[in-house]
Amino acid sequence: MSELASRRILLGVTGGVAAYKAAELARLLVKAGADVQVVMTEAATRFVTPVTLQALVGRAVLTDMWDASVPNNMAHIEASRDREIVVVAPATAGFLAKLAHGFADDLLSALCLARECPLLVAPAMNRQMWEHPATQRNVATLRADGVAVVGPAAGDQACGETGLGRMSEPADIYAELVALLAPKTLAGKRVLVTAGPTFEPIDTVRGITNLSSGKMGYAVAQAAAEAGAEVTLVSGPTALPTPPRVARVDVTTAREMRDAVLARAPGTDIFIAVAAVADYHVVGAKDHKIKKRAGEAPTLTLAENPDILGEVASLPRPPFCVGFAAETENLREYAQAKRKKKGIPLLAANLAQEAFGADDNALTLFDDHGEHVLPRAPKIRLARELVGHIARMLAPR
Ligand code: CTP
Repeated sequence: MSELASRRILLGVTGGVAAYKAAELARLLVKAGADVQVVMTEAATRFVTPVTLQALVGRAVLTDMWDASVPNNMAHIEASRDREIVVVAPATAGFLAKLAHGFADDLLSALCLARECPLLVAPAMNRQMWEHPATQRNVATLRADGVAVVGPAAGDQACGETGLGRMSEPADIYAELVALLAPKTLAGKRVLVTAGPTFEPIDTVRGITNLSSGKMGYAVAQAAAEAGAEVTLVSGPTALPTPPRVARVDVTTAREMRDAVLARAPGTDIFIAVAAVADYHVVGAKDHKIKKRAGEAPTLTLAENPDILGEVASLPRPPFCVGFAAETENLREYAQAKRKKKGIPLLAANLAQEAFGADDNALTLFDDHGEHVLPRAPKIRLARELVGHIARMLAPR
């Protein structure tokens, strides 16, 4: 089931060109099974008609403070009362200014003031309007008031200029809503995650690596951040964007990864080792490109890399350690043996041939109580289930 199924969301739309993207966001929310009420400002109705949004969400759009169909004539209070979150997308410079100063002269601004639930805004405006000190002051005020802000993004603008100010993509606003509505099961916890492959140089242009994409580790970092944890992601070389609210440390080799992890292990509550760490490095890697010599194949001498998870698990006061195992056969047997050998409370195992590079995966979790199968699903969904499992294991009984 989708994370937003049955969640009660109020989508506010203000008058900017990006209002057309609000229709796309509404569609994503409805597709996820959310219960969506749309409220538009008068200016927004100049860009997209309420009919479009009504057709998408299957419910009349509210635009008017003085709507006589609301029994007590208090649309500004009624509209937000049964909502779990309000998202204003796009939020124009003018609307942000209003919000920051508590003006309530139309339905949307009044209900934002009257609401009891969280508020997310997705600013959208010309880059100079965004950079203007007044806008920056207003956004800082809103953040200080506890309002969540997503974007704006950089790129081409409707006015023909290029820069920061475009509304974040609907998929990114959607992801932010998922994060804000997620149960905060790891609030106050510090989580350290490793992800991706490592790269062990042979010379300055060649090396030994593996096919790990980093997607599972990045998903775990994202899920932990959504659950309210303070997350540091130590990442081998990947092409992935850093998940929101995650601090990322880039490393190349296993030994660099070990140093980055051990430096941060004290004070860490949970260590989740998702990285596919190379087991060996090349002894005497060259600091120049090795030239080919006809008829002479070079020999590489390998030496073992440190076992990062093993070292963290054997610290005097180790964090709660979670390992990953990619096996190609005998999943259950190898995974349980690996968990015991490393002395860790939880191990997530998957089949390497199914996991590497894919967006989907299937995991089996092994702990003292046996095994828990997480059927095939997108990696982010599995990561959220894994985080939920860790939170339950750590919850005081
Ligand atoms: N790991 C680590 N440091 C290493 C190797 C692995 O931290 N040098 C971590 C991985 O991030 C993963 C787990 O240990 O969480 C995997 O355990 P490992 O015994 O290395 O698994 P495999 O490499 O799959 O072992 P094998 O090659 O024996 O199957």
